[in-house]
Amino acid sequence: MDADTRSLISDAVNNQPQSTVTVLSSLLAIEDAIGYIPKEAVEAVALRMDATINDVWAVATFYPNFRFDPPTEHRIEVCWGPSCHVMGADRIITAAQDALNLTDEGDTPDGRATLRYNTCLGACAHAPVMAIDHHLAGRITPESAQQKIADALHSAASH
Ligand code: FES
Repeated sequence: MDADTRSLISDAVNNQPQSTVTVLSSLLAIEDAIGYIPKEAVEAVALRMDATINDVWAVATFYPNFRFDPPTEHRIEVCWGPSCHVMGADRIITAAQDALNLTDEGDTPDGRATLRYNTCLGACAHAPVMAIDHHLAGRITPESAQQKIADALHSAASH
């Protein structure tokens, strides 16, 4: 792990703006900062919270959205919340899986992209909604979903 990542972790753990700092808030701050929870981050949280490493791992592994490997280049989220479901999210999910060569959410076999289902991307009025590299797109169709994914995969890395 490089010094920059170490210092991002340390900032994330030690400079949380809210008054109540917990193991979970610390893990979320790290995930926000670097996109995943490396083992060094677990150690940093344990130290900061006066908890054991096992306690921190227990919290981290309880939440399915934390990742423990560095993120892939592209993050594709498809909303399957109630509004999007009514507007055909199932077809968008299938289209996204096909475009990414996946049968469920997760990382693509080539490690370039990650597909995630989201319970609400906060733009219900524009359902169905997806987000590619954190950019929201509304009223998508299976075709436009696949086009956006193809465009993202052909662009440079997002970070
Ligand atoms: S339910 Fe899909 S954006 Fe809210």
